[in-house]
Amino acid sequence: MTILEVKHLSKIYEGRVPLQALDHIQFAVAAGEFVGVMGPSGSGKTTLLNVIATIDEPTAGEVWINGTNPHQLSRKQTALFRRRELGFVFQHFNLLDTLSVGENIVLSLSLDGVPVREMERRLEEVAEKLGIRGILDKRTYEISGGQMQRTAIARALIHRPSLILADEPTGNLDSKASKDVMETLDQMNRQEQATVLMVTHDPVAASFCHRVIFIKDGKFYNEIYQGSNRQAFFQKIIDMLSLLGGDSRVLSTVRL
Ligand SMILES: Nc1ncnc2c1ncn2[C@@H]1O[C@H](COP(=O)(O)OP(=O)(O)O)[C@@H](O)[C@H]1O
Ligand SMILES: [Mg+2]
Repeated sequence: MTILEVKHLSKIYEGRVPLQALDHIQFAVAAGEFVGVMGPSGSGKTTLLNVIATIDEPTAGEVWINGTNPHQLSRKQTALFRRRELGFVFQHFNLLDTLSVGENIVLSLSLDGVPVREMERRLEEVAEKLGIRGILDKRTYEISGGQMQRTAIARALIHRPSLILADEPTGNLDSKASKDVMETLDQMNRQEQATVLMVTHDPVAASFCHRVIFIKDGKFYNEIYQGSNRQAFFQKIIDMLSLLGGDSRVLSTVRL
């Protein structure tokens, strides 16, 4: 079953000098797949994720998520669609520091009017899976970066969304916390059959994916599959990145 289908997607930022950030991008993601998106800085990765997330409108082409084209919905329906079908994980975590960890996780459920007992039950369940039961009453400034990102993943998962969209989820984490967060995402993908589309600069993070799509200048460039060996896949990713050019800085610091 296909969860996400991107058809001839183009995005032009109009301005004094119009800029084509996406140029007829086309791919599909099956249910339960864990797909990475890589490419040099400015290649259109964030634009792609934003258009899929309905944060931004495409100039041409279509996005289908679980049988719906969210760009054809009304404003109100779009908001509902985003909350029900999508889960977001960002580089900067985007947690509210006036709320506790637990309150952050259930916020969208309370917006949807889910009864308190049901919220508590689902919170327990997701917190258990992510190993954050012990910090639910803490504030976001009392926990580590890795714990913040696991909180954000819990918040994304609690709805059982059709698709989880992650933009540089390890971008603000040290290598140990990154590995921890990637293992968590990997586990959620396996155990919960969560479908994940993740933009990343980090070849180690990308090596957890089943498949990595490379884009350059807003165009589809290539894609590679993990197969059975993560170490070999990591090397293939490194090779593809050096072929792509740009971003040489990521090559100097990597370790599996
Ligand atoms: N809101 C915007 N207005 C105009 N140009 C933009 C905007 N957002 C991104 N761009 C440009 O679009 C291109 C792709 O950007 P982006 O999607 O952020 O790339 P990436 O995430 O791969 O670094 C870049 O050249 C960037 O400068
Ligand atoms: Mg970006």
